[in-house]
Formats: sequence, C-alpha cells, structure tokens
Amino acid sequence: MTNRILFFTILFVFASLILASIPLFTFNAGENATIGIGDSKEFKRSVGSAGGIQVYRVCDGKNAKTCGYWEDLKTKKKVANAPVTKKVGKNLVLEKVTAEDSGSYYDDGDIYFRVQIFELAPTK
Ligand SMILES: *[C@@H]1O[C@H](CO)[C@@H](O)[C@H](O)[C@H]1NC(C)=O
Repeated sequence: MTNRILFFTILFVFASLILASIPLFTFNAGENATIGIGDSKEFKRSVGSAGGIQVYRVCDGKNAKTCGYWEDLKTKKKVANAPVTKKVGKNLVLEKVTAEDSGSYYDDGDIYFRVQIFELAPTK
C-alpha cells in the first residue's frame, strides 16, 4: 500500500516536471497571438474540439498555392475557421484567436509548444 502511494507520488512529480518544461503561451480571445516558436518552414498544430492535425507552410516564393494558411492534413483542405496566420521573424502570429486555437503547436523539428486561449467572461 505505501509502495503504491509512493509510486503515484513519484509519477505525479515527474509528470508535473515534464509538463512544466513544455513552453506555454497564453492569450485572451480576440488578441493577436504571437508565439515565439522559432524559424521553421512549416508548423503543425492540434487544436480545438474538431481534433486532427493541421499544417501551416511558410511562403518561400515557390509554394504560393499551398502556403500561408492552415490545412487539415487528412482532408488536404484549408481550415475554414482558422485565424489569419503569418510568420513574422521567428514568431508565428495568429490574428484574433479564439478558444478553438488552444492546443499543441509543433515546429518542423517536432518541438512542442502549448498554447492556451482564455475566453474572457462577457462584460455586462
Ligand atoms: C492584429 O493584427 C492585424 C494585422 O496586423 C491588425 O490590423 C490588428 O489591429 C491587430 N489587432 C490587435 C487586437 O492587435
């Protein structure tokens, strides 16, 4: 019994440490979210209730037809309700984010970032 408690305590501590080491960016809904995610040629994300992976390819002059928007990797279609997204320097800037943009973001080395968008309670 004591062993079991010890095991879960240690497991909890390690899980917390791992989670704490993953960069977390937080924003309020409606803001432009600037995510310092680095200098990749493409980014992936797993967000919202719909699930699935979306890819964003940075425009490089040779990929005009497939760059600059979030594409659903499975359907190969543009994600209709995804925010306007641009790469500015080493940041990914998502305009007017909503709670649906909360989730996991990855650079092209599969480095993982957590993004959380808070919906503010409506005033009045
Ligand atoms: C977000 O970025 C767009 C485009 O740069 C700009 O027009 C808009 O004012 C910005 N909105 C906020 C809330 O900063």
